[in-house]
Amino acid sequence: MRRGVVHVTRATLCRSLAVSASTQTIRQFSAAPSSKKGLLVGGAVFAAAGLGLSVMTNEAHADAALDKRYTELRAKIEAMMDDENSVNPSVDNAPGAKGGGGDIGPMLVRLAWHCAGTYCKNAQNGGSDGATMRFKPESDHGGNAGLGAARALLEPIKAAFPEISYADIYIFAGCVAIESMGGPSLPFRPGRSDASGPADPKVDSRFSPDGRLPDACRDDVPLEQHVRDIFYRMGLNDQEIVALSGAHALGRCHTDRSGFWGPWTYSPSTFSNEYFRLLEDEKWSLKKTHNGTPWTGPEQFENPKGDLMMLYSDMALVWDPRFRKHVKVYKANEEKFFADFTSAWTKLTELGCKKLQQPIQEFVATAAKPWWQFW
Ligand code: HEM
Repeated sequence: MRRGVVHVTRATLCRSLAVSASTQTIRQFSAAPSSKKGLLVGGAVFAAAGLGLSVMTNEAHADAALDKRYTELRAKIEAMMDDENSVNPSVDNAPGAKGGGGDIGPMLVRLAWHCAGTYCKNAQNGGSDGATMRFKPESDHGGNAGLGAARALLEPIKAAFPEISYADIYIFAGCVAIESMGGPSLPFRPGRSDASGPADPKVDSRFSPDGRLPDACRDDVPLEQHVRDIFYRMGLNDQEIVALSGAHALGRCHTDRSGFWGPWTYSPSTFSNEYFRLLEDEKWSLKKTHNGTPWTGPEQFENPKGDLMMLYSDMALVWDPRFRKHVKVYKANEEKFFADFTSAWTKLTELGCKKLQQPIQEFVATAAKPWWQFW
């Protein structure tokens, strides 16, 4: 697994950038590994608009302190991912059910995505602001099954960083996990708030009703339509849907969480374009048996060896030609996948976060390359 490698050049590119407008300072943090501690340049650099100049101001000191805290936070998250006692419990008892192999990472990615993926652009509610999944009923929504384990793992980390919101920690942990597992450098901007208790979405727009996250199979509507309904509601397009779905290179389905079984790839703790290759190249058929006995779980697909899986929602990406053209691109070009994933992930994780308004495309473009390409 590609993690924890010190890489000076990339760290330089992964600088966090603070842009000081007349009244507003927006801070960004790369999820760059803590092993690059001290190299994260941080908010101490202020870019003069359009001129590419950097000047130091008094605000730089506050930003430097915040940068330091985020570097420490990253180190704590990485240590937790490496800790054999960080459990990801499941009756499936899959490899990586304990930490140390990085298999906590996929669960952290799913947590971040499920926090953000509740956003509705029409109702203007949901999203990662508020960390609303800490409260019932959202914590008990079927789609969030198993994520209590991820939130519990982050609880002591949150206690050590009282000044950073749960909402920021949940998203930042997802960014750290992706990058630690070999993914692209992801820009991160803090500023999400924490709700103090459960509330009706009509009263507090950080909350959202159940049913906002996608189902893996549906009887009433074609899956490609369902997937579009869900992601278009967030304001995302076909290309962004396919790019984000590439996160299924990571992790696995658990029979005691979603009811499905198995990993999508043979390297579920490495972020790569393997998901797209396997989607295209493997022969997928409906799963009939499991460990020699009839499969009684929900309908899913498996490869001929029966050790990998796809959901109906995954298969929709190759069944639908408008999705498939992006699958083919990402299968052929991992660099393009990383760049598009970075943009889509950044957009996703900022949906509904009212205090994060600064456009950051420029930064995304420079940060999107995988670190090994900077050697
Ligand atoms: C149509 C869209 C999607 C559907 C139907 C879907 C469905 C699922 C299901 C059923 C699981 C298994 C949960 C379990 O049993 O533990 C899962 C896991 C996962 N999903 Fe998705 N997902 C979708 C999109 C996404 C997106 C957009 C991301 C991230 C950007 C993502 C990241 C993950 C990760 C990393 C896991 C593995 C979690 C673990 O190993 O604990 N998924 N997804």
